[in-house]
Amino acid sequence: MAIQRTFSIIKPDATKRNLTGAIVAKFEAAGLRVVASKRIQMTLAQAETFYGVHSERPFFGELCEFMISEPIVVQVLEGEDAIAKNREVMGATNPADAAEGTIRKDFALSIGENSVHGSDAPETAAEEIAFFFSGLELVG
Ligand code: CMP
Repeated sequence: MAIQRTFSIIKPDATKRNLTGAIVAKFEAAGLRVVASKRIQMTLAQAETFYGVHSERPFFGELCEFMISEPIVVQVLEGEDAIAKNREVMGATNPADAAEGTIRKDFALSIGENSVHGSDAPETAAEEIAFFFSGLELVG
């Protein structure tokens, strides 16, 4: 598998509890390198656009309100098989189902307040990186 880039969000429940460094340490220990990073607070319109694929889900409103409730840290992670590796390090969406040692097992509070987001495929990784980062912010 080649070197890939993926997109990550450290969510409001984690930034609020000062867990950014602990989460980045898990990425780095898994061989993922942070190649771009910034702390931002999304507008409601941005959150609704970013999560547009979930707009028909019953939790959509709650999800968007949560994602704008505090600052988030958006990052680009790079490494061998980065998309799958990041999903492995994150653990299952619902922390009750997450494996030992994963970010969501160790830090997530609930299925909604689940500490991290990560891209699920190369196409979404490219779209999500471009949504938050300009070309100038992405070194080669
Ligand atoms: P994420 O990877 O950011 O992608 C969509 C998010 O929706 C997901 O993580 C969860 O945080 C959230 N989500 C999924 N299912 C539910 C649910 N049943 N209730 C609240 N939030 C949910």
